Amino acid sequence: MAQLWGGRFTKETDKLVYQFNASISFDQKFYEQDIRGSKAHVKMLAKQKILTKEEEQAILDGLDGIAEDVKTGKLTITEQYEDIHSFVEAVLIERIGEPGKKLHTGRSRNDQVALDMKLYTRDEIKEIDCLLKRMLEVLLRLMKEHIKTYMPGFTHLQKAQPITLAHHLGAYFEMFKRDRGRMSDIYERMNYCPLGSGALAGTTYPLDRTYTAELLEFAGPTLNSMDSVSDRDYLIELLSALSTVMMHLSRFSEEVIIWNSNEYQFVEIDDAYSTGSSIMPQKKNPDIAELVRGKTGRVYGALTSLLTTMKGIPLAYNKDMQEDKEFVFDAIDTVKGCLSLFTGMLETMKFQKDVMADSAKNGFTNATDAADYLVNRGVPFRDAHGIIGRLVLYCIEEGKAIEELGMSEFKEISPVFEEDIYEAVSLETCVDKRNTIGAPGEEAMEYVIKIEQEYLKKN
Ligand code: ARG
Repeated sequence: MAQLWGGRFTKETDKLVYQFNASISFDQKFYEQDIRGSKAHVKMLAKQKILTKEEEQAILDGLDGIAEDVKTGKLTITEQYEDIHSFVEAVLIERIGEPGKKLHTGRSRNDQVALDMKLYTRDEIKEIDCLLKRMLEVLLRLMKEHIKTYMPGFTHLQKAQPITLAHHLGAYFEMFKRDRGRMSDIYERMNYCPLGSGALAGTTYPLDRTYTAELLEFAGPTLNSMDSVSDRDYLIELLSALSTVMMHLSRFSEEVIIWNSNEYQFVEIDDAYSTGSSIMPQKKNPDIAELVRGKTGRVYGALTSLLTTMKGIPLAYNKDMQEDKEFVFDAIDTVKGCLSLFTGMLETMKFQKDVMADSAKNGFTNATDAADYLVNRGVPFRDAHGIIGRLVLYCIEEGKAIEELGMSEFKEISPVFEEDIYEAVSLETCVDKRNTIGAPGEEAMEYVIKIEQEYLKKN
């Protein structure tokens, strides 16, 4: 057990207390960020003449060596240290001697951990954004491919009006596009550097905080040292945004599960993304979609957990805040895994176009269009609604679709119907007449696809 703060203490820390307190089992995840932050700090100390050029070089080389050796596996992070900060400092001193002891000049682990977590989060936000972008690229490709793949659109999980697969997938495109927007908003708001805030009240050394912020590619230094060491807002914002990503993925998963069911058969999930049953040989289960839906709970849990941890904490740093890490790490890893797997499943999924089109035909999804037909011929909408209601009832009794009725049957219900009713209620017409911006008609879809293509090129 190696601690940085032994001097004031007379008794050895109890082993259980030590383990309870330690964070190295999980904060070793950001050893690279810890070293990156320390290097910036040391460069600044040298610039401010707090360290000599020689000391600076010795420490920088030492830190680079540690980073390299951990990466290649030559140096293992051992849990005899309390946290990753203590580990790096101890190894540095072991390797380069005296200058290593100056690394921590003008710094506290409170601003150090605040910095490390920010650096780590920033890196991860970029990775999540890349995965979201990949999802959008796959969605856009599918949208282009399926502009004429007709399917029923649902409300209340009841067939409502005909749409296309491009239109349906386009809805998810918008969701994940907003998720990317949230990532960049969070990034921009959090991108201020806490380094140099000390334990809570800055330091008496002439630290150049603007310089370290610049070295670490932050927009600038944070402006209140107490807030700097105790701000976890950006993690809460991130967990909230990640929860929203998971909510989107979970809704999408639910649809894939429904579409893949025996009753629907709209899609066939590729063998690589489905699993069998140990007892029922006929089964091919949508496990990946179900797991993504299930893992949503973990991410929501992380958000609730951190909100709860933070709610009663007085200024400034308190040890409770160490609890920000494991859940955030888990949420980030979960979202990254779910995004890549879901995208892979989507890319390889087969859409059964005929089944989808048949389903759209057999659910009276053209009833609104039949009513609109009457309205266009002078029947007030409310009356038209009633007439088509009777028409649908008749169809159900006869076991027919609207477009399957004979002209005399139409006429019997309303003399306003003419031959052109067949054209008016065909699936193609029903979809293609809908060309308001954002609607499923071909023209409207092409317009949106062009906009989204430009967006992906620029972002
Ligand atoms: N492991 C700690 C954390 O994650 C680092 C900061 C420790 N600071 C302290 N005063 N004990 O929050």
